[in-house]
Order: sequence, then C-alpha cells, then structure tokens
Amino acid sequence: MNRRYFLKTGAAAAVFLAGIPMLTTGCRNSLRSRLMNGQPSTEIPGLSADGYRILHYASLAPSGHNSQPWFVKINTPDHWTIGLDPDRRLPVVDKNNTEALLSIGAFLENLVQAAAAHGYRVHPTIIAKDRFDPDFNPDLVSLRLEKTQPENMDLHRLTSRRTVKSHLSDRQLTPGDVNAFSRLTDGHLFYFAKGTTHADHMAEQAVANYIIQMENTAAVKEMAKWTRLKDSTIKEHRDGLTPAGMEIQGFAGWYVRHVMDPVDVTGQAFIDKGIEKIQQQAKEGAGWLVIIGDGNTVSDMVASGRRFQRMALEAKNRMIAIHPMSQTLEETRGQKHITENHSSGTIPHFMLRVGYLDKYPDPVSVRRPVTWFVKI
Ligand SMILES: Cc1cc2nc3c(=O)[nH]c(=O)nc-3n(C[C@H](O)[C@H](O)[C@H](O)COP(=O)(O)O)c2cc1C
Repeated sequence: MNRRYFLKTGAAAAVFLAGIPMLTTGCRNSLRSRLMNGQPSTEIPGLSADGYRILHYASLAPSGHNSQPWFVKINTPDHWTIGLDPDRRLPVVDKNNTEALLSIGAFLENLVQAAAAHGYRVHPTIIAKDRFDPDFNPDLVSLRLEKTQPENMDLHRLTSRRTVKSHLSDRQLTPGDVNAFSRLTDGHLFYFAKGTTHADHMAEQAVANYIIQMENTAAVKEMAKWTRLKDSTIKEHRDGLTPAGMEIQGFAGWYVRHVMDPVDVTGQAFIDKGIEKIQQQAKEGAGWLVIIGDGNTVSDMVASGRRFQRMALEAKNRMIAIHPMSQTLEETRGQKHITENHSSGTIPHFMLRVGYLDKYPDPVSVRRPVTWFVKI
C-alpha cells in the first residue's frame, strides 16, 4: 500500500463516519442554480421560448443514476418526439430498460404540467413497440401540442422537488397523506408502515440486494461511470451522481470532491461506506411505498413513471421524503423475494422509502441544458 493510498483510504473512512457539517450544502445549491436557470440560451430551430421553458421543466424529472435518459426531437413547433438515448441506459442494473422508461414517464409528467401552465394541452401517443429495443428504434412517445388557455399550475413544485435520503422521521404516514398519494397514483399504491413484517422485509431486501450489486464488478463500474465527483466534471457533464446528490455532506463531501479520483469509487473503502449508508437509510423512515404497474409494456412503464412523479411533486407540500431504492427490483434474487411475498399478478415498478421531514432540503442534482438533449 503506498502512502497516498493509505492517506486517501484512511481519511475517507474517517470522514464518511464523521460526516462533520463543516461545509454546508449551500455551495452545492449554488452550483445547481448557477448552472440551471431555464432561460433559452441558444435558439433551437422550431422551438419557441415557451417550448424551451417547457422542456427545461421536463428535464427536472428524476432518473436512475441521474442519467437523464431522454432526448427530444422537434419535428415541427407543435409535434415533438421523446426518445430513449441508448448511451444513457444502465445496461447492467437496468438491463430491461425499466428504470429508463419510468424516468421518461416522470419527464413526460413534468412536460405535461409545464405545458399546461404555458397554455398548451399535450396529446401523447406511445409509438414504441411493447417490448422496447433502443438498438432498433429509440423513439418512444409522439406529442402533439394544442394551444389553449394557460392553467394555474404551481411550477415551483417542479423546481423544488428532489430525492431525499436523510433525516426521515419514523412517524407513520397519516391516512390523509396515504389517500392523497393513492389518488395521484390512480390507486396503484401500497403503503407498508414501519414495524410491519412487509416493511421489515423490504428494508432487509434493499440492503441485501445493494450488497449483491456491490459484489458485482460490472454494476460498480457502471455506478462509477455515472459518478461525478469534482465541480469541473459536474459542469462538464451536467448529469450523474454528485456528492451532494448522494448526500455526502460536510467535510466528507469536501473530501470526495477535492481528494478522491473517479477510480476510487470502485475501491473497497468507498463501497464499504456506501453499504453502511444504505444500512443506515433502510432503518430510517415511516416505511415503504410500492407503486405497481398494470403490466410490463412501454405504456405501462411510462404510466407508472407519470404516477410516481405526480406523487413526488405533491410529497414536498406534505413535507414527505421519497427515496427510490430500486436495487431489489433490479436483482433476480430480489425480484424473486418480492414476487413470493406479494399476491400473484402484482407487478411492482417502484420501491420507495418514505418519511416525514422537519425541513425539506433544496434540490442539488444538476441537469443537462435543453440544447444538449434536443435533436432537430
Ligand atoms: C426510476 C428511478 C430509479 C431510482 N433508483 C434509485 C435508487 O435505487 N437509489 C437511489 O438512491 N436513488 C434512486 N433514484 C433517484 C435518483 O438517483 C435521482 O432522481 C437522481 O439522482 C436525480 O436527483 P433528484 O431526484 O434529487 O432530482 C431513482 C430515480 C428513478 C426515477
């Protein structure tokens, strides 16, 4: 072991454990706001200023590893196509494109809500085949935009939503909140309160399947590929998992941003700390929400992504954190456990840890500008 390695791994272990809140997340927030303002920067032929803003709001949608797997073609000013960028798939942990399609669903939901606020009704049609093959044709959804009266939509919900992983209270969700979420997901929702056998089982499976992934070199390499540690890399890519997004705060956050190299993400010290973090997270919160689908076609996944996003946008108003933990559904062993423990025919699309928050933190994850994902 050379001296630099010793210093790096030893110090990494110490700072992850300490998590000293020395450097606030404030500078991370300013990185996001400095990079993202939603104002048209360059003219895109066929795209109006409203169209640009609508796509900016759409891009604030969550996605697995923040890979932002969407592209948009502007066919004419009122006819767009949303597609799945083959280079932004996660072929190891998401080999069937489930999460990519759920993320596109969330993108579409944001797009529809932002369009309504700007005076457009969106008519989406799924054009992909039932079984999606991005190597064959990555186009997914065709959109027609119809001019109408602007609706009174609260777009602040789109800019302020984020994934929250820490400081979730154990207090059970109230029936009022569960019912509101159930309505927003068209009844495709189950809530398993903390302390129930089902919730314990989900927490165990989240940890067990995360460990399985961390023992899989290909899955670790894929995670490393989407990890952006330094501010300069974040600015260059505007996607991926950042220290702030992973909620590595304080001195630990400073350390990973300034001292670690991308290759260290595949090292045992980083992996072990990641597992400790997941073990800690799985213990926290009010239990688990599961969003189920009607099937596994492209339409089913996009519908689930939209339902999820409607709920996630409302969660902030109710001071509820939502944390997708997808590893159980990604791994064959995890899927088997979940299938055995639910009634037959249940198709879980999302496993989400939930819990009330005292403070809903500002969003920190970055997005690519509209000009980077629009194809003319
Ligand atoms: C389909 C899907 C799957 C996700 N799976 C996970 C997951 O397994 N673990 C996790 O920590 N976050 C997960 N996320 C959250 C993303 O990492 C997060 O949305 C992304 O980093 C952008 O951050 P934001 O939601 O704060 O904007 C998932 C999100 C989506 C849409």
